[in-house]
Amino acid sequence: MAKKSAIPQIPRHVAIIMDGNGRWAHQHHLPRLSGHEAGRKSVKEVAQAAIHHGVRYLTLYAFSVENWQRPRDEVQGLMSLLRGVIREELNEMGREGIRLRTIGRRQDLPDVVREELEAAIEKTKGNTKLDLILALSYGSRVEITEAIQSIANEVKAGRLDPEQIKEETVTAHLYTRDIPDPDLLIRTSGEMRISNFMLWQISYAEIYVTPVLWPDFGKEEFAKALADYAGRDRRFGGI
Ligand code: IPE
Ligand code: IPE
Ligand code: MG
Repeated sequence: MAKKSAIPQIPRHVAIIMDGNGRWAHQHHLPRLSGHEAGRKSVKEVAQAAIHHGVRYLTLYAFSVENWQRPRDEVQGLMSLLRGVIREELNEMGREGIRLRTIGRRQDLPDVVREELEAAIEKTKGNTKLDLILALSYGSRVEITEAIQSIANEVKAGRLDPEQIKEETVTAHLYTRDIPDPDLLIRTSGEMRISNFMLWQISYAEIYVTPVLWPDFGKEEFAKALADYAGRDRRFGGI
């Protein structure tokens, strides 16, 4: 058997594609928005479980750039849900030591949502237990495209020699510039796809897909994913 490398058993960064709210609602004969509301409990439980297990960064894919194409009612419902959650959970985040952050096109969000988010980001910036990173209006291809634009501008301004562009240069221009790459990527509800999520950052992430729908995903399911991760042999191209 291959010798296991000295990789920590607990992932430093877990990223989750929270999928299946609509199917959960359908199973319960409820409107789709009730599925999103039910997913709120999972967010809370998983954030607490992450702290309990010593995970330092938790990224949650909450709304993709493609999700703007959904019916207007669903988009509005998701935006007001997001605003409510941030407002109602702010004090709890403080007590738990959670630092709220976002990745994505924050400028696309409605003003009221953005203001609520920015206030919470400011208020929690000194917390050090868990970085809770919400991917909002996030798309990996747009993130990489914006990085290329910004690198090209530095070249044009004469501050950067194209020969000096390295992987680190690209990394330093992504939304995640000061966040380590995810070690573990979880997708709920069984879909075997990435849906434009952190394409650069997940190069060597371990992938865990569970058929459990997001509103049914709680601390036990999170612990199962961590246990599975702990048994993986991460080789990073070595032997
Ligand atoms: C994930 O649940 C939440 C968002 C994408 C906002 P879905 O709404 O995609 O649920 P399904 O895939 O329709 O079940
Ligand atoms: C991915 O889920 C985006 C989020 C979880 C926010 P989707 O439900 O939008 O992805 P597809 O459409 O199944 O690929
Ligand atoms: Mg979905």
